[in-house]
Order: sequence, then structure tokens, then C-alpha cells
Amino acid sequence: MQQIAIFGFGTVGSGVAQVIDVNCSQIEKAFPEGIHVKYILDLRDFPDSPYADRVVHDVDIILNDPEISVVCETMGGVEPAHTFTKRALEKGISVCTSNKELVAAKGPELIRTAREHNCSYLFEASVGGGIPLLRVMNTSLSQEKLTRITGILNGTTNYILTGMESGDRSFDEMLKDAQGRGYAERNPEADIEGYDAARKIAILASLLTGKTVNYENVLREGISEISEADFAYARAMECGIKLLSDAFLDDAAEVHSVTAPFLVSRESPLFGVSGVFNAVLLHGNMVDDVMFYGRGAGKEATASAVVSDIIDCAKNRGSWIRVDWADDAAAMAPAGNDRRRFFVRVSAADEEKAYKVFGTDITRISAPGMVGEFAFVTAPVTEERFSGMASEIDIISRIRVY
Ligand code: HSE
Repeated sequence: MQQIAIFGFGTVGSGVAQVIDVNCSQIEKAFPEGIHVKYILDLRDFPDSPYADRVVHDVDIILNDPEISVVCETMGGVEPAHTFTKRALEKGISVCTSNKELVAAKGPELIRTAREHNCSYLFEASVGGGIPLLRVMNTSLSQEKLTRITGILNGTTNYILTGMESGDRSFDEMLKDAQGRGYAERNPEADIEGYDAARKIAILASLLTGKTVNYENVLREGISEISEADFAYARAMECGIKLLSDAFLDDAAEVHSVTAPFLVSRESPLFGVSGVFNAVLLHGNMVDDVMFYGRGAGKEATASAVVSDIIDCAKNRGSWIRVDWADDAAAMAPAGNDRRRFFVRVSAADEEKAYKVFGTDITRISAPGMVGEFAFVTAPVTEERFSGMASEIDIISRIRVY
């Protein structure tokens, strides 16, 4: 029997215990020894939980138990998760995590530590919730030169935007709803302002390049400025509004990366991705496009991905599961060079000025009920040039076009 410990008994941590319990016979098919939760590390006690007798408050009890060779870290945040993870790895204990904050901040260091101590650091659940993505990139697609990853990587914002689409529910209402369902991060700003998705695309971009993409270098914008009026125009254009994350490698092997709301046309496979679901499109040089779809947040789905890593680590006890992600910084293309079209709304009084500033090749957009405004889509323009143009005129809102 593989004895494990769970660090942090919140939504995902308690989900891990549940998945191991409910699916024990399925897990035994994959790993006949079976998996047993011996300890739960948390500051709190859980007197009403069936796991109450396994709760400990001292990490050393776990790290000094020779029966423990795998732990899952579902604490969230960088500290003390980083210290506990590093100490476990240094003892040769593999760590599986859903904690993208820690993976984005310290991934290469923890992967290196695992390698040096013949154990593994795996983080399937840190990106795309229950979607089996990282393992597929590392195994089924290991022969591919992957050049682009585009996805909807945050379940909370996709849930909110989907709810706002019809015009019936407000942003605040949808946010409360998402929080109630356990989708949102503790600090809603991480979801709403795109930090969570930026961390996830930075992790994916790092795996794409094998070097480190710092999430702070990802061009990032959240969804808090998206209004019902924007959705009225989106509907008129037969588009959705999605918080997209994108990373691609150009011919000079520089990384371009963005997380921001985009207008997504009906033709895109990402258009139909609704609610808490995430989707990721990978482009490989031989296989072309491959798309993954699944629950990007939520207790059971995320916990299922953690348990897949636990099984992998248990099967590979005493050895390092290869993850190519080095400390050196990946070369980033300046975000200002990225070219795209923008949807823009200005006051009707500024129509003539808009043509002067943005040129005559803009395309006018009308939407039912929207009066007193001039709305249009620009020709392709760099981010930098667009910012310059936008500073010359009062803009009501603008959204990038995918
Ligand atoms: N808050 C995250 C989301 C949880 O909504 O996608 C999963 O990472």
C-alpha cells in the first residue's frame, strides 16, 4: 500500500481524499498496491470528518515517516507550501500539486530538487483543472515541436462571462455564484484580473520552451471592465467574449504571450466553451492542432488530476519523472509588437475623429439598442501603435479580437 499525505485539507485537498476513497478499486487496477491517505496536514481540526484521526499539525511527523514517499500539496500560495515541498523533495518524497502560484513562482527549482533526490514534482492539476494536459504534452506529444498554446484557462471568469452573455445576469451576481461553487480563488482578484490565467499560460509557455516564462512578463488584462453593452455588440458580431490566454514561439524562438478578454468568433473551436469549462488548443509542427476540453475548476475534477499524478509517482517510486523546465529565462518578444485587431467604442460625436485617428479602413459595427456611440473594429495594428492611437481619443471600451 502506498501511504500518502495531503498538505492542506481545503476544497482540492478534501477532494483528493474523496477521489481516493470513491475510486479505490479503479485506482487499484492502475496501481495494485493501492493508495492510502495516512496523514492530513492542516492548521485546523476536522472533528466531523471521517478523516479526523489522520489530521496532524506538524509537518515533521509526515516528513520523518519512512512509509510516506508521496505527498500532495493542495495548500495554495507560495509559503509555507514552498518550504514544505522543498523539504519533502529533499527527503526523496515526491510531491504532486494543484498549486499554480507555487509552480509559476518556483517550478524549475522544485523540479531540479526532485531530480537531485530521485523523486518527482508533478503539477497536472495546476493548469486546466481536470484536463489531462501536461502529461499528454510530456508523453503523447513528446515527439512534436509545439509552437503555440491558446486556451481558456480560468473557469471562474469563463463562468462569469457565459452568465453575462445573454444579458440577464450581472457581473457581481455571477462572481458570487462562482465563489459559492468553489471555483474562485480565495482572492477573487486573481481570477477576475487574469493573474490566475497568466500564471497558467506562463507554466504552459515554460513547458513549451523548456525555459522559464515569468507570468509577470505576460501581457495581462482582466474582465472587470467588460460590460453588458460590450456583449450587445459581441452578439451583433456573432462573437463571444472569452478570457483567452495565448503563447507562441516566433521564428526567432521568442515567446509572445497574452492573457486578456478577446472577441471570439463563432467559427473558433473556443467559441462554444461555456461555463466553468476550460479548453486548450495546442499546435504541433507535425500533428497540427489538438484540442483539450474539460472542467477547469471544481473540487472533484481538480482532485482527479492530482490523483493521476499521485499514481504516476507511486508507480515510479525512487526515480525522477522527467519534466523539461530549466531556470534560464525564455526570450520574450516585446508585447508591444503583437499585431491584432481591436473592437472600439467611442461617443457618436467622435466618429469623424475616430476615422482620423484609426484610419479609414476601420469596420463600423451596429448593435440593437446601442445609440449615441460609434463602434468599430480596427485593421490589424500592433499593441504599441494601438495604445498610441487610443490615447488620442476618449474610448468607452476596447476589446482585442481573436
Ligand atoms: N480559480 C481557478 C479557476 C481554479 O477558476 O480556474 C482552478 O485553477
